[in-house]
Amino acid sequence: MDTLAQSLLGTRGLSALWLLLLLSPAVLASYSIGIGRADSTGPTADIVFMGYAKMEQKGNGLHLRTFARAFIIDDGTERFVFVSVDNAMIGNDIRQEVLRKLKIQFGDMYTENNVMISGTHTHSAPGGFMLDMLFDLTTFGFVRESFDAVVNGITNSIQRAHNAVMPGRIFIIHGKVLDANINRSPQAYLNNPKSEREKYKYDVDKTLTQMQFIGADDKPLGVINWFAVHPTSMNNTNRLVSSDNVGYASILFEKTMNNNAMVGKGRFVAAFASTNLGDVSPNTRGPKCEFSGQNCSDQYTCPGKKEMCFASGPGKDMFDSTSIIAHRIYQESMRLWQSNEAMEVIGPVRVVHQYINMPEQSAEFYNETTKKVEEVHGCIPAMGYSFAAGTTDGPGSFAFEQGTTTSNPLWNTVRNFLATPTKDDIRCQSPKPILLTTGRIKLPYQWQPKIVSTQVAIIGNVVIAGVPGEFTTMSGRRLRESIRKVMSDASDDETSVIIAGLCNTYSDYITTPEEYQIQRYEGASTIYGPHTLTIYLKQYQELVKAAIQNKPISPGPPAPELLQSNLIILVPPVLYDTPRWRRNFGDVIQQPQKVASPGDTIIVIFVAGHPRNNLMTESTFLTVERLGDDEVWIPIATDADWETKFQWKRTSVILGSSQMTITWKIPQDIKLGEYRIRHNGYYRYVLGGVYPYYGVTNHFQVKVPAPNIRQRYYG
Ligand SMILES: *[C@@H]1O[C@H](CO)[C@@H](O)[C@H](O)[C@H]1NC(C)=O
Ligand SMILES: *[C@@H]1O[C@H](CO)[C@@H](O)[C@H](O)[C@H]1NC(C)=O
Ligand SMILES: *[C@@H]1O[C@H](CO)[C@@H](O)[C@H](O)[C@H]1NC(C)=O
Repeated sequence: MDTLAQSLLGTRGLSALWLLLLLSPAVLASYSIGIGRADSTGPTADIVFMGYAKMEQKGNGLHLRTFARAFIIDDGTERFVFVSVDNAMIGNDIRQEVLRKLKIQFGDMYTENNVMISGTHTHSAPGGFMLDMLFDLTTFGFVRESFDAVVNGITNSIQRAHNAVMPGRIFIIHGKVLDANINRSPQAYLNNPKSEREKYKYDVDKTLTQMQFIGADDKPLGVINWFAVHPTSMNNTNRLVSSDNVGYASILFEKTMNNNAMVGKGRFVAAFASTNLGDVSPNTRGPKCEFSGQNCSDQYTCPGKKEMCFASGPGKDMFDSTSIIAHRIYQESMRLWQSNEAMEVIGPVRVVHQYINMPEQSAEFYNETTKKVEEVHGCIPAMGYSFAAGTTDGPGSFAFEQGTTTSNPLWNTVRNFLATPTKDDIRCQSPKPILLTTGRIKLPYQWQPKIVSTQVAIIGNVVIAGVPGEFTTMSGRRLRESIRKVMSDASDDETSVIIAGLCNTYSDYITTPEEYQIQRYEGASTIYGPHTLTIYLKQYQELVKAAIQNKPISPGPPAPELLQSNLIILVPPVLYDTPRWRRNFGDVIQQPQKVASPGDTIIVIFVAGHPRNNLMTESTFLTVERLGDDEVWIPIATDADWETKFQWKRTSVILGSSQMTITWKIPQDIKLGEYRIRHNGYYRYVLGGVYPYYGVTNHFQVKVPAPNIRQRYYG
């Protein structure tokens, strides 16, 4: 960047100051660091999950609770907050609501400028929190409970981080995980220039970047890991709320560091945050035809009429696959943590934020074919046809077409508001065949954002670029390169550039212009047209320059807040619960077996209320308890543990009766003894009010299986 070098020379005072700051570790060797975690689990039943856009994928239970994990970094002048939350994505209204709540407590300390909120992108958490019409289409509109759960989780995590601020140090290290991700749109990737592809060994990023936080007293405080992978090990048939592969990796890391504390408790916080995962799948066995097991066609179709093409693996089912991917990234992150090879991060903290109206942006693009620099523009948001086809991680989920009547009542209501694309839209989005001109539909309210948040934080020689969507592998590489260029013009130090995915606003995918030509799902969902990335490359360079020069930049146009709109809400509230005839809430319908062994699965069933009556935030719907030596029951697992699951079922809609099935897979390393399972919940009384209840099962013995006597005696 000649221009930047010149501008730095021209403003020697500023760049000299920057260098001085970088070179004076004695002054800046330590930061103030605050870390916090909070439960963000939304309603576990009756709400459609966000991610696969599949209406039938309504939650009916819980496998892993979701959490928000907040990290505050302060150099004494500037404060930066990074939050990773186990959620499909973050929308503008979520962040605004979080900031409003923080303002009440902390005044102007936490603002749009310095709070970066990144969704991990799990596809197994309840939806309806996005507000933009398109994203709430499959969830039957806005779901207040989902929205509040995410907002409260994020806000609480930042509050806890704020209250825990202490002096500390930061380190950074990079590792590699070779067997946990594959490219799910390799044909699109192959359309990138050969010379560029030759610079990289793989068609996905295998790097795991780790930021370590250590207290001034050398006490480990927390860690953020970034590894590019979709949390779609749990597929679109799953109906148990889950934080998926990356969420389980967080649990594993935290368990190790917190001396086996209960999930979601303990001081040490470990995030596995999203990055350029746009075209990256965890389903490492790759796409195969559902029944025949044969390879899919190049168009990802299968010969059989009703046969789907989807990716799975590496495990025997989706739970196994989730666990395998989680363990692979956890193991590498733990190796890095223990390696003692991390570099200390030293230098000032700078944060810059700007909203930009994407359709109004322009940038310069060097076309490899024509060898000419072209002026290119952003487009009015539109989705292409391939969007309706879905991906091999979750095929055919949005398969409705314009004007057709479907089983989706919300779609039938809003399809009259659809707008036809203008000639300009068609030209601008070309070669995308437009399915929905989401940017031109104003009714009932915004369908997809035009104004997006762009944000950069610099901590010493680490740059965190918070991006408003899902960058593909090559898009991410280009963005990192272009930011690195700006940084290396300003300092000789090696810079680590991290892309924090799905931050602040959600604007779908960002492919390279070349990948866009292929119009796979990711290209069809690159909503501002072929040069969405070209615009971001320019924008993030500007942000980094402004950060380096410590120059204020305009905040940009305010993003509309949809929470003020007359929101469409079609999800009915819970009306009432009644227990079964001659039963009470909490009664056990199915008791555990009397004796069990490590490795067995205990299954019990309770008379239950609706889990939406109370989300049991920071608490649990179920507890596995062991009888201690002093005759006290000790909780050893909750509903947030990997080994437990609950499934909830309305057994009669008219009577409002339901049951909860709880399973516990007994770990191999369990302490032998007397156990029982407890269920806590709330029921909604017919005449109004919500009341707590609980139930416990009979005791059961966990002991090692008796040796097989017959075998021993008779061989
Ligand atoms: C299926 O695809 C894999 C990976 O592309 C290839 O190695 C294999 O030969 C293919 N199998 C068949 C039967 O075409
Ligand atoms: C989802 O995973 C289950 C195994 O856990 C498998 O039976 C099912 O076919 C998968 N479905 C899809 C659409 O991936
Ligand atoms: C480069 O220019 C050619 C010729 O005008 C065009 O067909 C192609 O789409 C351009 N490439 C990109 C990535 O825009």
